[in-house]
Amino acid sequence: MKNVLIALTAIALFGLIACEGPAGPAGKDGTTGVAGKDAGFVYFEGFKADLKCSSCHNADSDTINNVAGRAIQWANSVHGSGTASEENRSSCVECHSTEGFIEKVNGTYLTEIMTVTPPGCFACHAPHKKGDFSLRTTASVSLTSNITGVSASTFNVGKGNLCVACHRPRPITTSTTTMLPDPTKTATTDTLKVASSRWYGHYGVQGQVLTGAGAFQFQGAATYGSTSPHSTAAPISTDGCVACHMADYSPANAYGNKIGGHTMHVSYTPEGSTTAVELLNGCKSCHSSITKLDYNSKITTFKANMDTLKKLLVAKNWIDTLDAIKIPTTGDKTLKIVPASRGGALFNYMMMVHDGSKGIHNPAYTNDLVRASIVELRK
Ligand code: HEC
Ligand code: HEC
Ligand code: HEC
Ligand code: HEC
Ligand code: HEC
Ligand code: HEC
Repeated sequence: MKNVLIALTAIALFGLIACEGPAGPAGKDGTTGVAGKDAGFVYFEGFKADLKCSSCHNADSDTINNVAGRAIQWANSVHGSGTASEENRSSCVECHSTEGFIEKVNGTYLTEIMTVTPPGCFACHAPHKKGDFSLRTTASVSLTSNITGVSASTFNVGKGNLCVACHRPRPITTSTTTMLPDPTKTATTDTLKVASSRWYGHYGVQGQVLTGAGAFQFQGAATYGSTSPHSTAAPISTDGCVACHMADYSPANAYGNKIGGHTMHVSYTPEGSTTAVELLNGCKSCHSSITKLDYNSKITTFKANMDTLKKLLVAKNWIDTLDAIKIPTTGDKTLKIVPASRGGALFNYMMMVHDGSKGIHNPAYTNDLVRASIVELRK
């Protein structure tokens, strides 16, 4: 490892010197990596031939790629500052680390990786292999369904495909004590059993919500308005999540490295303030007169409905006030819901909590499914 770094530094220095001279020798190629493990060192992908190190590793030309500035923004993102990058086990590492994600995209093997870094530059880009900052992958993504009788959906929204490669649900592990929600199980003899407090498709449900998929549809309730301009209208149709989350912040770039760009934050509350600064630049490409994220008071409405739904779920003792699912510690240690289909309300609530957009990802779909869940619990 040490030798490799020394070698890289030597190549880097050589590259810098080579670029300063008027007719310096061509930069030396880096070692071409071998996928997989080799002598205890993982070579992921190596260097593109004739890569000019100084085009990115040079403070003078940093106004082209702004690598240092983007690195600061990234450090302020949850990708750079979150705590979940400790999840290096084989079943987690593909989304929680750069190294695991590269292996996943390359279709090599996935195993526990001992020395992980959080999702960083090399997860989303391959600057050494490609010599530029194009995206590592934009392949469409299949989104698993956690509802009995509902099949997987496909997410294909431009650059958003990169995000959804990780921001996608995981299958709920079923057993004799943990079942999936089932819309057809409406009889008073149908019991849903839940033995795991993680009875949801993990946290990355944003791809599903954006495209109006994955929520529990109650039999008899009107179908939720699923197709949203927030996935189909230009520029979101090609830029995906990037259109809203990575729009550059202005005026005057105040808080430039705390919001938008590689921070991925759509709002930010400055230290000492209680008022959030909101990133509306992305929204403005379609809503020219928007003045706050709470456009047409849709967030206010959504929050009020979520509040009502939460009170109903807490009253039933299915969740606590911190949104944790309450699994009984006695008997067969399962939460029982009768009729089973009613569990869809709990499922939908957890999905909305984890989506995190307060309904904005898909205003019609999210409001419809929350309202339908309230109606169901009041039956
Ligand atoms: C297209 C842009 C680009 C080019 C060209 C480039 N790099 Fe990099 N390199 C990066 C980025 C981005 C990082 C990560 C920077 C960060 O995390 O702040 C990086 C990081 C590194 C690191 C540190 C790795 C680590 O784990 O911290 C080394 C060493 C390195 N590059 C060597 C080179 C060498 C040698 C060359 C030329 C053969 C080169 N780079 C060419 C973009 C580039
Ligand atoms: C979570 C994914 C992600 C991470 C991590 C990430 N980027 Fe990006 N980056 C993107 C996306 C998406 C774009 C927008 C690409 C586009 O619009 O074509 C982008 C754009 C860029 C661009 C502009 C490219 C252009 O052609 O305009 C540069 C430069 C860049 N990133 C550098 C970095 C550096 C340096 C890091 C690490 C400090 C980094 N990125 C980490 C996703 C990421
Ligand atoms: C390599 C997998 C990966 C990719 C690709 C990725 N993310 Fe993430 N993202 C994560 C993980 C993991 C977290 C949580 C990190 C933590 O908590 O430590 C996260 C967190 C976030 C958060 C903060 C969530 C919160 O709870 O505050 C936002 C916003 C976000 N990602 C947006 C994006 C966008 C937009 C893209 C595409 C440009 C993207 N991500 C691409 C894995 C990824
Ligand atoms: C398919 C990709 C994927 C896999 C696999 C995955 N995660 Fe995550 N995980 C994410 C994303 C994306 C987020 C951030 C979502 C958000 O904040 O909206 C996240 C968030 C988390 C969080 C932070 C939750 C919070 O509220 O702070 C923890 C903890 C976590 N994951 C643990 C794990 C563990 C443990 C595993 C393996 C057993 C795992 N993850 C596997 C994508 C994944
Ligand atoms: C129409 C604009 C828009 C699009 C497109 C969009 N988001 Fe969001 N997203 C938002 C808004 C607004 C919020 C709420 C942010 C806030 O209140 O700070 C949000 C919240 C989130 C959160 C919760 C954490 C946070 O930063 O608050 C995550 C994670 C996230 N979005 C990921 C994604 C992913 C992944 C995609 C693409 C599949 C995506 N978003 C597409 C607007 C958008
Ligand atoms: C790609 C274009 C586009 C972008 C970008 C976009 N929207 Fe929208 N949005 C629409 C369209 C089209 C509609 C449906 C027509 C309408 O209500 O204006 C809509 C509807 C909405 C609604 C529902 C309004 C209602 O009264 O039913 C809200 C709320 C909303 N958008 C908020 C946002 C926010 C906040 C952002 C930025 C974070 C954003 N949008 C970004 C195109 C976009």
